[in-house]
Amino acid sequence: MITRQDLLQRIAKIPQVDIGHFPTPLEECPRLTEALGGPRIFIKREDCSGLAMGGNKVRQLTFTIGDAVSQGADSIVHGAASQSNHCRQTAAACNKLGLNCYLRLAHDHKSINQGNLLLDNLFGADIDIVSLPFGPELEEFKLELAEKLKSEGLKPYVVTSPRSTALAAVAFTWCIAEIHAQQEHEGIDADYLYTASVGGTQAGLVLGSKVLDMKLKPYGIAPIHWEGKYDRISNAANSAASLLNIDINILNTDIHNSDDYIGEGYGYLTEECISALKLVARTEGIILDPVYTAKAMACLIDHIKQNRFDKNDTIIFLHTGGTPALFAYNNELYDDSHL
Ligand SMILES: Cc1ncc(COP(=O)(O)O)c(C=O)c1O
Repeated sequence: MITRQDLLQRIAKIPQVDIGHFPTPLEECPRLTEALGGPRIFIKREDCSGLAMGGNKVRQLTFTIGDAVSQGADSIVHGAASQSNHCRQTAAACNKLGLNCYLRLAHDHKSINQGNLLLDNLFGADIDIVSLPFGPELEEFKLELAEKLKSEGLKPYVVTSPRSTALAAVAFTWCIAEIHAQQEHEGIDADYLYTASVGGTQAGLVLGSKVLDMKLKPYGIAPIHWEGKYDRISNAANSAASLLNIDINILNTDIHNSDDYIGEGYGYLTEECISALKLVARTEGIILDPVYTAKAMACLIDHIKQNRFDKNDTIIFLHTGGTPALFAYNNELYDDSHL
């Protein structure tokens, strides 16, 4: 175990850029708690991390772009699904820091001029929507583009795993240190921490909560089926530990992550996620997103219905953002029955 101060000092030594609004708020949700009949629910508002409508990737990019800048990069290459929050936040961060941004996005069922893709376009990123699946082929394509940019005299940095996932884990040890301080301030000691993740976010929460010897148990909800997800998360946690010079070994058995709320697949809505999104909007005025956070909330609601918690338990739900994606789902979400 190390102290919060010590953890923060180790994090401060990793190259970073100042692009977000931190600390993000920790907000109690009494009307949501009441609607669900307990336990006590708080939401950690990573959706309020500032840059370009916020989200968990702002904290992550604090370190990935920090890494790029420390290596002298002048251009960032990224790519993922066409409604990627990570890509939108990357484009915004590049504009804030005066870097070129190249996005290579996989063509999919939401490659429409709405949501994140609309914002990528607004930010003026160099965008190419390619007929490649979101996965290893797209990662290879990003690396090839970087080689081409190098031959043209640019200094590109590719946002890709495992480096990006490890730096995300560093970022979320910082987030858990924030939660640690906020709990002290609020006089609470949560039992569980729920979040949408199958990568660096959960890795950092698992690592940080263990290092700080916190009571809360992080629980991840996957937005996508990811083969080898436990290795991916534990490897990211252990790489972050080594970047932070912390002697610890996170095992796959330390990680709890559910695939049960994905539905038909990544980016496809479920009935439960639509009801979760509406419930949180109508009780707390907080907007979840349909791809990640509403599915994670659907899981928390289901676990409450299964009586997995005591009424006196305290849960923190880490809201990872994704707000713009909502607008790419207007047809699925707009309820015109009252018109
Ligand atoms: C809104 C939102 N929530 C959660 C995640 C998942 O993050 P992780 O990389 O930890 O799986 C993402 C990733 O793109 C995201 O955009």
